[in-house]
Amino acid sequence: MPVVIVVGAQWGDEGKGKIIDFLAEKANLVARYQGGPNAGHTVYIGKEKYVLHLIPSGILHKGVQCVIGSGVVVDPEVLLSEITTLRSRGIEVDGNLIISANAHIIMPYHLIMDKATENIKKNKKIGTTGKGIGPAYEDKIARYGIRAGDILQPKIFKEKLYENLFSANFLLESYFHLPALSARQIYNDYLNYGRLLEKYIGDTEMVVNQAIKKNLNLLFEGAQGTFLDVDHGTYPFVTSSNTVAGGACTGLGVGPTKINKVLGVSKAYTTRVGMGPFPTEQKDEFGDYLRSKGKEFGATTGRPRRCGWLDLVMLKYAVQVNGLTGLAFTKMDILDGLDKIKICTAYEYQGKHYTQFPRNIDILTRCQPVYEEVDGWKEPTSGVKTYESLPENARKYLKKIEGEIEILVQLISTGEERDNSIILENQFG
Ligand code: GDP
Ligand code: IMO
Ligand code: MG
Repeated sequence: MPVVIVVGAQWGDEGKGKIIDFLAEKANLVARYQGGPNAGHTVYIGKEKYVLHLIPSGILHKGVQCVIGSGVVVDPEVLLSEITTLRSRGIEVDGNLIISANAHIIMPYHLIMDKATENIKKNKKIGTTGKGIGPAYEDKIARYGIRAGDILQPKIFKEKLYENLFSANFLLESYFHLPALSARQIYNDYLNYGRLLEKYIGDTEMVVNQAIKKNLNLLFEGAQGTFLDVDHGTYPFVTSSNTVAGGACTGLGVGPTKINKVLGVSKAYTTRVGMGPFPTEQKDEFGDYLRSKGKEFGATTGRPRRCGWLDLVMLKYAVQVNGLTGLAFTKMDILDGLDKIKICTAYEYQGKHYTQFPRNIDILTRCQPVYEEVDGWKEPTSGVKTYESLPENARKYLKKIEGEIEILVQLISTGEERDNSIILENQFG
């Protein structure tokens, strides 16, 4: 039975939440492997909207084991509020959620430093979500981070907190000119979070690997997207984790030989939140049209998303760097009714033609996209449930993309609700 990684093939917000929730119907376990509450994964059940930030998008299915792996950075306040909200809406969390004792904890000084660092950057801002992601991963890599298991042990926690707060307060006061934080307050708050979260904290590596051994159906849910990866994305305009498929192995403690499939998720166009290069961005009325029709506003911060045409140079790179075995193609319905649709197939920069994704940020920032124009479709794809019922030009659009990226579209999403989906290949088949 397969282990399937679901990964964003663009700059995040591709519709991973919708796809995971759809696939979770047949899954036994869904695990998040990186990122933190910067993620906003939207799931609709009928007209009911759920936005998940830390808890895997499988939680809305009864009896699916949800895992937050050691590669995730956890803000306990956000997590507890998410648990409370889900419970109040009748979703069972207890017994279905396990958090790695090794997952790093986002501390109050991480949140402050994330925002303060952005504030002093002037015109070099990344446009982070302000959720403390970068500073929390900094502490992890520097080897003095506080982990979920630590907030269950008062003595160890106290020692680590006081050591960390000594340098954090020095930075806050002397560098950022902000007030120092009270160790006692944080100590009390976080020990309390520890008490509330204790029943969920455990050995996720064992749980995930045992599920694999039992041949169960597993989904590994990526957060953000390929081009926000700290190594392979549009650095420095990226997040602080490995968002690509490889991150699932390190973030969950699963060997690469155990992965069976990697499903990339891409919108029928492109969006990005925050700063950084975006070759096919449309800063005109058409960009506004996509934003308004596609409801392109951040699920975590509410910021308007930058919008543009589909970029196959990027998508081909996403196929390569993730080893994609198939594509889930979302939001086709947003392109309904257009006369012509543009697809970016190359970039031009200083007389050079690029069909491979250039790794140089200057080229990405200054290049001109080369478009191919195809005919749009007038009949709606919105809510269509079979491939045969799609308008002919929509099918041609899909074929064109498959031909360019050399993998097949295995799932098509035609609306925000669960059943607005066309399955072409069963991931657990
Ligand atoms: P994620 O972060 O990748 O999970 O994506 P987000 O939830 O941040 O953003 C995707 C948005 O598109 C959400 O509002 C979804 O409800 C919505 N969505 C997903 N698939 C489709 C689709 O096929 N059609 C339409 N119209 N909306 C979709
Ligand atoms: P999901 O999982 C879209 C972007 C931020 C910023 C950059 C760094 O919903 O697809 P960070 O707070 O991570 O340090 O910000 O990454 N970003 C996202 N963009 N979707 C997300 O998550 C994102 N998470 C972070 O806008 O540009
Ligand atoms: Mg999102």
